[in-house]
Amino acid sequence: MTDKKKILITGGAGFIGSHVVKRFVRNYPDYQIFNLDKLTYAGNLENLREIENLPYYTFIKGDIVDAEFMNGIFAEHQFDGVIHLAAESHVDRSITNPLEFIMTNIVGTTTLLNAAKNCWNGNMENKKFYHISTDEVFGSLGKEGFFTEKTAYDPRSPYSASKASSDHLVRAYFHTYKLPVVISNCSNNYGSYHFPEKLIPLTINNIKNNKPIPVYGKGENVRDWLFVEDHAVAIDLIFHKGKIGETYNIGGNNEWTNIDLVHLLCRIMDEKLGREPGTSAKLITFVTDRAGHDLRYAIDSSKLQNELGWAPSLQFEEGLEKTVDWYLANEEWLNDVTSGAYQKYYEKMYHKR
Ligand code: NAD
Ligand code: TYD
Repeated sequence: MTDKKKILITGGAGFIGSHVVKRFVRNYPDYQIFNLDKLTYAGNLENLREIENLPYYTFIKGDIVDAEFMNGIFAEHQFDGVIHLAAESHVDRSITNPLEFIMTNIVGTTTLLNAAKNCWNGNMENKKFYHISTDEVFGSLGKEGFFTEKTAYDPRSPYSASKASSDHLVRAYFHTYKLPVVISNCSNNYGSYHFPEKLIPLTINNIKNNKPIPVYGKGENVRDWLFVEDHAVAIDLIFHKGKIGETYNIGGNNEWTNIDLVHLLCRIMDEKLGREPGTSAKLITFVTDRAGHDLRYAIDSSKLQNELGWAPSLQFEEGLEKTVDWYLANEEWLNDVTSGAYQKYYEKMYHKR
């Protein structure tokens, strides 16, 4: 038996979750970390290879929508804290299949809230339920202004509507049942282990393979990009020091139009691959715009900076170079996730146990 603090991280085999799990397993030997993940197409245990055999790290395959299962693992392990990242996360997929987003993001989050409430009933002391959300819940900005923690919710895609709904439910459990919750809303992340359906890894992968780079509409939409490890640092800070019942915005203060970002990536890739300057830019192809495409996201993270002392650590060019280097050095990972072969990894690693 152990008296270590038990932390449940959901979605820990995904892009951001795997960075958070690795950070917590490495930095907090006093914790026992449980990573619960359904291993959808976006979940990949190879992202966690470096820590998979460390003591006090446990992987649990499971679906947050399954109430009996979730209540069971809470009863068995008596978690002290939850960091909830499991979600369907890709806007384009939400446009073609909204129901999957409703199930995982809304029903799944509520199931998790219920499991925590049932387990902690009457003893909320030193407990924390941390819900990870997105700036997309605030809708779309014009050319001016920033999202603050007080900005009214105005989600416009099935993805952002499902995340907004989950945020509301988390707050409802705080007010109604006194569940000790904290929420953060972050801007677009980039970095290693990012599934190549999202703009940055997709562009890197297509340039590498000399395939067209699809830019939606005119490429004028603006996103505020943050290095994923800076998000993991913010999550660590908020989990430990964030005030119960509060919300924190996290952002890179780093706005780029998609077309400028793609051109920058083309320049970096030409250099790294030893191609003539201008070679990759020839792959840029303007395609039909995303339905309901939000024009601009930009985060004001001054509350997090002032109250908890967080700041982004990297300049964008530096972060992008690191990211490109990682993708070029990890060809096998990229080939596996694009071929679907990584799904066999779980079978190989865990099915026999
Ligand atoms: P991701 O799609 O890479 O990973 C999601 C993980 O959740 C996967 O490992 C998947 O297997 C798991 N999962 C999905 N459905 C599940 C279910 N029903 N039960 C258990 N596990 C399930 O996503 P990401 O980009 O790492 O995002 C993580 C979280 O951060 C999400 O909540 C997302 O809304 C939020 N977020 C993401 C960004 C971003 O730029 N990627 C920005 C802000 C907030
Ligand atoms: P994405 O990485 O899907 O993140 P999000 O939609 O959550 O912001 O897309 C980032 C931006 O890039 C968004 O404005 C849509 C655009 N985009 C493209 O132009 N082409 C693509 O192939 C993809 C995937 C996205």
